[in-house]
Amino acid sequence: MTTERVGPIGPISHMGHMGHIGNKHHTLDFIRVEGAEMVFASRKSQGRFHALRQIDLSVAQGEFVTLIGHSGCGKSTLLNLMAGLIKPTSGVLLCDRREIAEPGPERAVVFQNHSLLPWLTCAENVDLAVERVFGARESKAQLKARTQAALELVGMAHAVAKRPHEISGGMKQRVGIARALAMEPKVLLMDEPFGALDALTRAHLQDELLKIVARTQSTVVMVTHDVDEAVLLSDRIVMMTNGPAATIGEILSVTLPRPRDRVALAGDAGYVDCRKAVLDFLYTRHGQPAAAVA
Ligand SMILES: Nc1ncnc2c1ncn2[C@@H]1O[C@H](COP(=O)(O)OP(=O)(O)OP(=O)(O)O)[C@@H](O)[C@H]1O
Ligand SMILES: [Mg+2]
Repeated sequence: MTTERVGPIGPISHMGHMGHIGNKHHTLDFIRVEGAEMVFASRKSQGRFHALRQIDLSVAQGEFVTLIGHSGCGKSTLLNLMAGLIKPTSGVLLCDRREIAEPGPERAVVFQNHSLLPWLTCAENVDLAVERVFGARESKAQLKARTQAALELVGMAHAVAKRPHEISGGMKQRVGIARALAMEPKVLLMDEPFGALDALTRAHLQDELLKIVARTQSTVVMVTHDVDEAVLLSDRIVMMTNGPAATIGEILSVTLPRPRDRVALAGDAGYVDCRKAVLDFLYTRHGQPAAAVA
């Protein structure tokens, strides 16, 4: 476990934070955020709200990075910047050396509230994404096979013909993940994907996600509130300070070997140390702001 304090200027050194990534050809700064600032127009604060300040971050190909911080600090804003759903007020974001100017199929997003279309079946929801990415080059049969494979990957092949209201919240979330994975994105951006689920379902889906990511070697940036989730899943945990003008306070490298087993890790000294470091950051040094608690 190592931590790095992130200064207000300059890019972050990311060498030595590669965790399980053994392939030397992997790009170390697959996603780059350089000096990103986000100022929203707002009615309060003289018409502007400075949400994010001087965000510098590099994410390596195949890396699993989580963003953690108190409510309202700007985690979703940072993820939305990476998704291209919003543009920074200043600074630049790059994915695979190209500027992120809009949403793209190489960056699939899984939102906290499963965003399936209610009038379509599970398979049709996934089909829609598959068609958008591969429709121009592949036959109907190939597209169907992609949908089927993605639903199988998340254990939802049995629900192809069901509509969202006929399945549980955890199942909907799995279909959302299948839809994102089916696009074969270079980057998986997830905003508290398990936030609304009960503890057992959440644990199950975390384990599945770990297996899937190990197979697909995806690059993942995931927002979470959950310290245990962050330590279990991450190569690095990006800890954000409180807003307004939130920034990256510290980055913790989690060097626990993979595959990771939640039961075995519970008593592991390295795991306990990581957990303590995040708790210390969040509650001792950057306690929840009074306004957010009220
Ligand atoms: N479109 C917007 N216009 C004005 N202010 C915004 C806008 N979007 C977000 N904000 C503000 O920016 C700050 C960061 O919001 P964001 O949603 O990124 O926080 P978060 O860390 O994801 O919080 P949570 O953990 O509760 O989801 C908040 O103070 C929020 O009110
Ligand atoms: Mg959020």
